[in-house]
Amino acid sequence: MADKYVNVALPKGRLGEAAYDIFEKSGYACPEIHEPNRKLIFESVHNRVRYFWVKPSDVAIYVEKGAADIGIAGKDILLEYSPDVYELCDLHMGKCRMAVAAKRDFKDNPDTALRVATKFPNIAKHYYAEKSREIEIIKLNGSIELAPLLGLSDVIVDIVETGKTLLENNLVPCETVAPVSARLISNKVSYKFKNSEITQICKKISSICKDKSND
Ligand code: PRP
Repeated sequence: MADKYVNVALPKGRLGEAAYDIFEKSGYACPEIHEPNRKLIFESVHNRVRYFWVKPSDVAIYVEKGAADIGIAGKDILLEYSPDVYELCDLHMGKCRMAVAAKRDFKDNPDTALRVATKFPNIAKHYYAEKSREIEIIKLNGSIELAPLLGLSDVIVDIVETGKTLLENNLVPCETVAPVSARLISNKVSYKFKNSEITQICKKISSICKDKSND
């Protein structure tokens, strides 16, 4: 019987392009993807694979609901939304961390609720619950660094990659909440019914990503 197609959700942007390169090196090339166009679905009949470009924060939804069999999602998204998917391997790319940051002169007052601005309310709630610290979440959708500068919050919980955004806005990282990197995830039903295809992809990708991390 011919191999089944595997549907792959890739995060649009730099991380997704780097992730596609790994698929290509693993033997799942789809040359059409390199053509300059705005198509969102690409298919290789030869390699029995179909790629979708999706918004990075939506990859886990496509995979959880089975619209894609597998996908590449940041650990930040997996921690925030706890999608019902299998996390198959760490690609050791897109590395950054989830951190707490504040103005240099910020002094925490344990008698009042800490005002936390973030795009990741579940991660922040979980982090401070573990410390039994009372907080007030201020949910924002971007430019989180502005919040403490304008007095909207005391601290932020956000992604820090190079640290440049914090530095240029006179904020300092105070605590690391979690390391973040790109993960290969799978839909649970697909993992059962396309097991040989998915485990094969996972094996090849893991070996390439392992090599990369040893460079
Ligand atoms: C992310 C994050 C920080 C910045 C960190 O923002 O929210 O603002 O990158 O990167 P750095 O440590 O290398 O400076 P993003 O580009 O996703 O924009 P947004 O959060 O404002 O939407």
